[in-house]
Amino acid sequence: MSTVYLNGEYLALDQAKVSVLDRGFLFADGVYEVMPAYGGHLLRMNEHMQRLQNSLNAIRLKNPLENAQWLNVIQILLAENVDELAGEDRSIYLQVTRGVAAKRNHGFPQKIEPTVFIMLNELAPVNKESLRAGVAAITLDDIRWKACNVKSISLLGNILLRQQAHDNGAAEAILINQGRVTEGAASNVFAVINDVLVTAPIGPQLLPGITRDLILELAAKNAIVCEEREYTEQELLSASEIWFSSSTREILPVVELNGKAVANGQPGPIWEKMIDIYQANKKDLRNGNTR
Ligand code: PDD
Repeated sequence: MSTVYLNGEYLALDQAKVSVLDRGFLFADGVYEVMPAYGGHLLRMNEHMQRLQNSLNAIRLKNPLENAQWLNVIQILLAENVDELAGEDRSIYLQVTRGVAAKRNHGFPQKIEPTVFIMLNELAPVNKESLRAGVAAITLDDIRWKACNVKSISLLGNILLRQQAHDNGAAEAILINQGRVTEGAASNVFAVINDVLVTAPIGPQLLPGITRDLILELAAKNAIVCEEREYTEQELLSASEIWFSSSTREILPVVELNGKAVANGQPGPIWEKMIDIYQANKKDLRNGNTR
């Protein structure tokens, strides 16, 4: 049984319990983060902590822990779960809700302590060969709200869209807001259009993915021409490559879109180059040579 953290305590997963009056349960009034650790090394911890802070600010909730305290708890959990979870990689899920109120009422209660929860999950090794098979995607209307930059635990739009993709034999949805591509249901989207790697600019319509930022940084360092700009569904449909990016799935090529092959139905040359760069960066992280 894996060990989790709940409000200052380290508990077996099945012992961790939250009140039904928790505002996370009643209102999805909370935010979260998911961050990978490779061989015990956290990928972009500072950036994840900054995004958490931004999400907390957006919902007017004080950060319950200092960054050093978050790190300390995560390190304890990584050590506690060495024999409990398979493999040496982990995805760390952390969540802060506004806490347990005396009764259900939409406005913020005056006195309330946040609920802080962290759990670790196995992170199956991702390698180039396993990714190369690619996935199918479909485009769907982005039915979500106007603050998608907040990593809110209110994911009803996202889960309905992901499920609609699954119901149509696709692994993920590509969301279209007023004709423009925003992101996936739980990922960011890149497209190669006229040999340029394109991704939507950050803003309220999408989550500023940490993997997305890392890809942009690695592209710039490796002379891969890249542009952050708005682009249309039409441009997406004519792209020679499409990728999803996320902390848990890294860079996943889309080989089929809306039932049609993307280019020749194989991951393209820019993905082939980028995945090598990304995997090399991951190896450096494992060896403690990058962050
Ligand atoms: N989700 N956009 C959305 C809507 C997401 O949910 C995610 C990740 C991303 C990619 O962000 P990052 O590169 O920082 O993982 C983009 C996580 C993995 C989840 O909800 O499980």
